[in-house]
Amino acid sequence: MPLACNALQKSKSAMAIISSASTKLTWILAPLLVLATATIRVHGQPPSTSGFISLDCGNRNTTPYTDSSIRGIQHQSDVGFVEGGLTHQIAAVYMAGAPYESQKTLRSFPNGSRNCYTLPSTPGKKLVRALFTYGDYDGLNRTMDGSPFLFGLHIGANFWEAVNLTSWDPSSTIWKEVLTVAPGGSVSVCLINFGTGTPFVSALELRPLQDSMYPFVNSSVSISYFRRIRFGQATDFITRYPLDPYDRFWEGWSFSYNTYPWMTLNTSSPVRRLPGDNTFQVPEGILQQASTLDTNYSFFEINVAVGPNLDAKNLQLLPIFHFAEINISNQNRRFDIYSDNDLLFPDFSPSRFQADSMHENGQFLHNPTATFLLNKTRSSRLPPLINAFEVYSLVRMDNLTTDADDVNYMKEVKKHYNLARINWNGDPCSPREYSWEGLTCDYSKRNQNPRIVAVDLSTSGLKGGLVISFMNMASLENLDLSHNNLTGAIPDYQIKSLKVLDLSYNQLDGPIPDSILQRSQAGLLDLRLEGNPICSKVKDTYCSNKKKKTSTVLIAVIVPVVLVSLLVVMGILWKLYWKGKSGDDEDYAMYEEETPLHIDIRRFTYAELKLITNNFQSIIGKGGFGIVYHGTLENGDEVAVKVLMETSIAESTDFLPEVQ
Ligand SMILES: *[C@@H]1O[C@H](CO)[C@@H](O)[C@H](O)[C@H]1NC(C)=O
Ligand SMILES: *[C@@H]1O[C@H](CO)[C@@H](O)[C@H](O)[C@H]1NC(C)=O
Ligand SMILES: *[C@@H]1O[C@H](CO)[C@@H](O)[C@H](O)[C@H]1NC(C)=O
Ligand SMILES: *[C@@H]1O[C@H](CO)[C@@H](O)[C@H](O)[C@H]1NC(C)=O
Ligand SMILES: *[C@@H]1O[C@H](CO)[C@@H](O)[C@H](O)[C@H]1NC(C)=O
Ligand SMILES: *[C@@H]1O[C@H](CO)[C@@H](O)[C@H](O)[C@H]1NC(C)=O
Ligand SMILES: *[C@@H]1O[C@H](CO)[C@@H](O)[C@H](O)[C@H]1NC(C)=O
Repeated sequence: MPLACNALQKSKSAMAIISSASTKLTWILAPLLVLATATIRVHGQPPSTSGFISLDCGNRNTTPYTDSSIRGIQHQSDVGFVEGGLTHQIAAVYMAGAPYESQKTLRSFPNGSRNCYTLPSTPGKKLVRALFTYGDYDGLNRTMDGSPFLFGLHIGANFWEAVNLTSWDPSSTIWKEVLTVAPGGSVSVCLINFGTGTPFVSALELRPLQDSMYPFVNSSVSISYFRRIRFGQATDFITRYPLDPYDRFWEGWSFSYNTYPWMTLNTSSPVRRLPGDNTFQVPEGILQQASTLDTNYSFFEINVAVGPNLDAKNLQLLPIFHFAEINISNQNRRFDIYSDNDLLFPDFSPSRFQADSMHENGQFLHNPTATFLLNKTRSSRLPPLINAFEVYSLVRMDNLTTDADDVNYMKEVKKHYNLARINWNGDPCSPREYSWEGLTCDYSKRNQNPRIVAVDLSTSGLKGGLVISFMNMASLENLDLSHNNLTGAIPDYQIKSLKVLDLSYNQLDGPIPDSILQRSQAGLLDLRLEGNPICSKVKDTYCSNKKKKTSTVLIAVIVPVVLVSLLVVMGILWKLYWKGKSGDDEDYAMYEEETPLHIDIRRFTYAELKLITNNFQSIIGKGGFGIVYHGTLENGDEVAVKVLMETSIAESTDFLPEVQ
């Protein structure tokens, strides 16, 4: 049996799984300190950990700590980096085997379809890693119960990878890594509930990379870790910080699975990079070791998809091979490198004691078997050699995050009103299917970040003053804060793009600022203030509905009477185009944008209206002019019946526009 790839297995049950690969046990159990100590002796100071973030998810103790098995890296609780979720510990039986302290606790997310962590960061290239140790934390034996256990990860607003724990040993640790460009002051990592198991995470790590590294990673292309392997005689199962100052995880190669007559080479002589070559910065300690074959052999194959739940079928892979000739004899060594059957790099010869990294700049390959072949050329005396390789899969960063200013203003709003909406999590507009409830976003401008154009926070229990953040949102056109408990005066701001400002049914008082009044009077702003104390002093169209404070029962009785006595029925019917599938807000919003509302204007008698609305039984809303009833026409069309309450024709001139 192979050693599980991408997995740390240290517990007793893991040992059982890999018992046939007995040599692996020494790797697994070897202390990670061996190489670390060596490096520190050579370089003196350990590399800087500035900018490192290491979250121990689900750890309720907020005192930072260092893990004795990872020297020099501070870990901290995830409190404050995520909202929601539940904290758990892995089962006692797996505690002793946990590879890192951070794997003993985790945070699970039974609620909400997307839950996001926000990691503060400077802009630029970053490595982001998530680690998962199920450890039967819920006592449900969930990875072994035979059902699928699969959830998703997003990096920012884009799909990163699925975490597949189906039939997974509960003691194992799996990790996912992505190299990405942080767009601004933070990076968000989201867990997506597919409905096949509660998402959870044990640790989240962010490491800054230099911008010269991995040049094919840019704002529209990220790469997800598939394998990163070192050859030779590695003393530890995972090589990471401080040997690698960027704390990449380098797995030792599982020789037993690849049954070639492997030979190990190592050197203590320096292996240099060409001056100015900062692309991969493979640690010298890794390049000082290599694997090759007995000289009678001429080729070896590397299958990088070996291990449970690793599948390259639908991936686009990008391999990077790292070589350095560290054999002291001066015999020539030349080989061809194939991906599947395609010749990638012909007649390659590694340089002596110098790092050579072979990659096709930014070219992703389709290689469903994830197999690479290194084959000696005819002229070569020595068989191929290899020191390390990395294989990544493509992560498209097509979905742009919401305009950064809009995001900040919405976060201010959320904080100011203490809004604990489960769905208000991660990016407000992206990806579309996870956009925040109550927001309407404009995605129409290609290659531009989505903007927030409408915010509906009506009936949301808002208390306190009207927060200024809304008015700073440069693209906001429609703001609905009606039916809340907003108090105080309306602050005086230069509103920018706002066309509809609905503040009706709040406790707002004080004079209406000129900036708003002027726009309203010029017809640039549809201002609605009815149901506020402010309207006890002003009589204007924006307060026109002040009588609506009377109870709905009373209105339902009075209105028909008024209408009958006037013998004027101002019933305007319009069709409500219910979406066939309900709950598809996005499609409905698009419909509204693209298709002008179709209005049928017909005259109805009061008796007809009574019939249509089943005697005004079902109220579906309350508009600026009165109550809206649900009804059904003779042909079965569903309609809303909006009833004008005012008896004065003069006051009703705004009725038709209101309906429209
Ligand atoms: C977990 O499930 C597996 C497979 O069904 C079973 O073999 C094992 O005994 C279970 N373990 C526990 C602790 O229930
Ligand atoms: C981008 O968003 C769309 C719509 O929400 C989604 O279907 C698509 O999968 C996303 N693309 C990526 C790369 O995540
Ligand atoms: C390799 O060749 C040597 C002689 O050059 C021979 O002694 C040895 O048995 C060969 N090994 C294999 C595995 O063929
Ligand atoms: C998840 O892993 C299981 C078990 O290896 C496999 O059968 C299944 O196809 C995988 N699912 C996905 C979506 O990769
Ligand atoms: C990112 O890199 C890809 C290929 O590596 C390239 O096609 C794309 O134009 C780049 N995008 C940006 C924004 O630089
Ligand atoms: C390796 O290269 C030789 C020619 O040098 C060729 O004959 C042989 O078929 C190649 N082996 C494989 C596995 O492709
Ligand atoms: C406003 O607050 C009062 C008490 O302060 C409460 O009775 C009322 O229900 C609140 N209204 C809304 C719409 O939240």
